[in-house]
Amino acid sequence: MRDIEDLTQPSALSAILIETTRLGFSMASEPLTGSLLRTLVRSKGGGHIFELGTGTGIATAWMLDGLDAHARLVTVEHDGTLAAVAKRHLGNDPRVTFVIDDAAAYVARAGGRRFDLIFADTWVGKFTHVDEVLALLKDGGFYVLDDMLPQPNWPDGHAGKVDALLAGLRRKQNLMVTTLSWASGIVLAVKNGSLPDTASN
Ligand SMILES: C[S@@+](CC[C@H](N)C(=O)[O-])C[C@H]1O[C@@H](n2cnc3c(N)ncnc32)[C@H](O)[C@@H]1O
Repeated sequence: MRDIEDLTQPSALSAILIETTRLGFSMASEPLTGSLLRTLVRSKGGGHIFELGTGTGIATAWMLDGLDAHARLVTVEHDGTLAAVAKRHLGNDPRVTFVIDDAAAYVARAGGRRFDLIFADTWVGKFTHVDEVLALLKDGGFYVLDDMLPQPNWPDGHAGKVDALLAGLRRKQNLMVTTLSWASGIVLAVKNGSLPDTASN
């Protein structure tokens, strides 16, 4: 089994990666994360997908590659320069909506929406506003995080934040959590909407 070597990449990815390198953007999702996301979104026919932290659109490109024609993807990014790269290469796809805004502000406006998969790839939805973002997830929907294994660019004290995040997610009765030593370290969780979202102590 050759995880990376056998990957077929989304067609837009090479051009996005060139611009990503040119911008010096160092927080891009890894190919194996993209591959996992592409596989997961494929299970959600006509699905509604939410990404927090578009960056230059790398995970966006992977997810669009897996989505069917009826699916929709909303991705939010507060840095217009980064999002412009994603828009330039993926903006012609009618399934995707790019939102240039603070992710927390978007989440506050999105109260009535429900998503089949949420990829929380920024602080909002991961280290802040977790409950608000999980409230947007449908019963049976996937909640996905990456960068959960120690990374060279983690600031001092970040490991403790990750541990606290994981402990908090595991306490939630309505979330089934699996951690994967895959790529940068993945949380793959599914919402069980028949249970309350309160933590079980
Ligand atoms: C880990 S990177 C995202 C990588 C991207 N998903 C990919 O696949 O390559 C996190 C992104 O979140 C953005 N960001 C940080 N704080 C934000 C906020 N409050 N609202 C929206 N975007 C934010 C950063 O500018 C950065 O592009």
